[in-house]
Order: sequence, then C-alpha cells, then structure tokens
Amino acid sequence: MSRTVINGFSKLTKDEKVAWVAAQMDEQASARQILKDFWHPDPEVQRVLDGFSENTLSNFPMPFGVVPNMLINGKLYTVPMVIEESSVVAAASASAKFWLDNGGFRAEVTDTIKLGQVHFRWSGAAARRDQLFGGLQQRLLAEAAYLTENMEKRGGGILGMEWLHLPDIAPDYYQLLVRFETCNSMGANFINSVLEQMASTLGDWAANEPGLQTSERSVEVIMAILSNYTPECLVKAWVSCPVEDLNGICGEGGYNFARRFELAVRIAAGDPYRAVTHNKGIFNGIDALVLATGNDFRAVEACGHAYAARSGRYASLSSCSIEDGLFTFSLELPMALGTVGGLTRLHPLAKLSLALLDNPDARELMQITAAIGLAQNFAAVRSLVTTGIQQGHMKMHLQNILNHLGATAEQHAAARDYFSDKVVSFSAVRSFLEK
Ligand code: MEV
Repeated sequence: MSRTVINGFSKLTKDEKVAWVAAQMDEQASARQILKDFWHPDPEVQRVLDGFSENTLSNFPMPFGVVPNMLINGKLYTVPMVIEESSVVAAASASAKFWLDNGGFRAEVTDTIKLGQVHFRWSGAAARRDQLFGGLQQRLLAEAAYLTENMEKRGGGILGMEWLHLPDIAPDYYQLLVRFETCNSMGANFINSVLEQMASTLGDWAANEPGLQTSERSVEVIMAILSNYTPECLVKAWVSCPVEDLNGICGEGGYNFARRFELAVRIAAGDPYRAVTHNKGIFNGIDALVLATGNDFRAVEACGHAYAARSGRYASLSSCSIEDGLFTFSLELPMALGTVGGLTRLHPLAKLSLALLDNPDARELMQITAAIGLAQNFAAVRSLVTTGIQQGHMKMHLQNILNHLGATAEQHAAARDYFSDKVVSFSAVRSFLEK
C-alpha cells in the first residue's frame, strides 16, 4: 500500500474524497462501502453533520446510552451518555440507584466566570500601568461594545480585566487578563472575538494614544485567546448518608466499607499515580455527558486536570469523610459548559440529550455533570475496594469477544454460563467455542 501526496483534497466533492481515500487502501471496494454505510439516510442530517468538521467522509458511531434514576437536588434525571467503554453506564446506573434510595445527589455552582488573555510585549515601563490602565480599559471596552452588546442584554459580558506584567516569561511581556460571564453559552467564540478586538485596540492605542511617550509606543501582540482553565467556573456535587446505610454493599458492613472507601480516596489525594486513574474514572462519567450534550470534552478534561494539580501536585478531584457516623463523598471541579451555541442545538442527538434533561441552563448542566462524575467515581471506588472491577468488566468483555468471533446466540448463552466463574480471555473464549 503506498500513500500519494494530494493538493486540494478539501476542494474535492465528498464522493471524490471517499474514492481517493479508498484508493489508498488494499480493500478499495469494501473501504468505500464501509464509509458510505455510515452515512445518515437523511441527506439533510448528513449535511449538518458534515458541516461540523472538514474533510468529512463518514460518521463514526458511538454508543448513546442513558443513566436513569439520577436524583440531583430533589429532581429526577435520565442522563444521556456517549461512551465506548463497557461497564461505565452500568456502573453509573448502579450508583444512581443506590443514591436514589439514600438521599440523592446534591450539587451547587459556586461561580461561572470564564477567562481570556491577550498576550503582548510592550516597550513601556511596568510602573506606568497604573496611570495608563484607566484610559486603556475605557477604550478596550468601548471598542468591543459592538460584540458585547447582545451578551450584556442576556445578563453577561465583560466582568473586569487586569493588566499583568510577568517578567519571568520575558522582561517586556504583559498580559490582559479578562473575566467574562457568558450565561448559557460556553462562550469560546464570544470570548475569542472580544479578545481579538482588544488586541487590535491595544495596537492602535499604543500607536495613537496622545498621552503616551515615544518609548511607550511599541506593542507586539503575540496572541489573543480564551483560557480553558476556569477555576472560578466551579461546581460541587456531593452525597451523604449515615454509615450504617452502607451496610450490605457487596456483603461488607457499612463501617468497614466506608473505612476502605475513605482510604482509597485518600490514596488518590496523596499519590499522583493513583490520582490520575481515580480522576479518569470521574471523567468516564463527565466526558460521556459532555459529549452527549455537544460540549467540548477536551476543554472540560484539560481544565479539570489543571485544577487537580492546583496545589502544585496532581491529586484526586473528589474527597471523602466519615464524621459522627456520617459518610460524605464530594467532587469539586471547574468546567465551562453551554446549553446554547456550538453543537448543542445543531447536533440532533445533542439537542435530544438536552431535551431529555429538561433543557437545563448552563448552571444546571454543570450540576448534573458533576453529579454524574461523582456517581461514576463512587461506583468505581466501590468496586475497587470490594469485588474488584474485573467482575463487572468481564461480562461486557466476554460479549465483545464473542461478537468478534462471530458467536451465535446459543454460543453466547453457553459462554455466559461457562465463564460465570472463570477468567475471561480471548484465547479461553476461542478454545471454548472451538470445543
Ligand atoms: C476505568 O475506566 C476507570 C477506573 O480505573 C477508575 C478507577 O480506578 O477509579 C475503574
């Protein structure tokens, strides 16, 4: 198989792109067929999906499932999840059911401030900022007003800004750090447009502002972009119950379970190797919902992991306590989510997901997302400190291996029975089928 260079690939029609890609492969006809098999039958829907990205050839389906019975702040939700990993939805569902019977999840949003930065070099003296900032700020706001007007009508806009000097990065490096409220939108486009306008104002200000000395007239904008680290866009979720209500979890006494669970969470707080896996379990839930609602899971992940390292050492995002006979398990993390804009209303399944959640505003969606992350984390740590996770994983793993080997329905049933008390591996399943 040899690859050829192509110029102007993006200008080809979709059929031509598919044909070109298929021509690079050994099984051309089947490659073309597979790509086309996943086209949506309604060309209008396919046109919308194609519009999300570039050079699209087909769609890549992922399982879309739900976690029913999520009780959050007294409201019952059926939470949509898009995830390819087996056991995640089952684990979250078991957790949702357990907490449904034990008081439900609580969640609250602390704040929803988003951040953006204009990074630039300036030839002036840092000490002059106090004198100059008032005038500059007025101009920055006035010249961005055409962009912020609508957001202000919705209750958002620019909340404030600082002019920072960070000489450790470069002696003449400065930054405008701008705070935004973007209401129900994640706000990336809005923030980036405002910041680019500010960058342009900054250059103009340096060149033309009457009060500046000649030595202060050089501004070089390096970049203007939102920060995906939003520690002030923060949500907390928690569950709590008397320790004795944990009696019966996997046959352990409530206190014994709580003690093991609490130590497992403390290990994740103290050991980065465990913390990463622990937090990965949290993001199993969070990403799945973020994806289902058409939000940016890379932004949410990056932000969450930075927050997990805010002390200077990467640690668990969740924490656990046992006090006066009360077991409390909580999760706090920042996340920037939207319920309008982006893909949220354009992707038919994202729109459906939001409708299934009763069309929450961004704050409510943050609460649901944190709660599902906590549910997932509870289920994972519960399994880890009791049965181990393989027991749950293996059922799905077995099914996937059987599907891969083309097993019949009877063989599925027989294998389920046979492997109920045995270790599942690809070779063990294959030799079972051969027998
Ligand atoms: C697997 O996807 C997630 C877990 O590893 C999380 C954890 O270890 O806490 C089970």
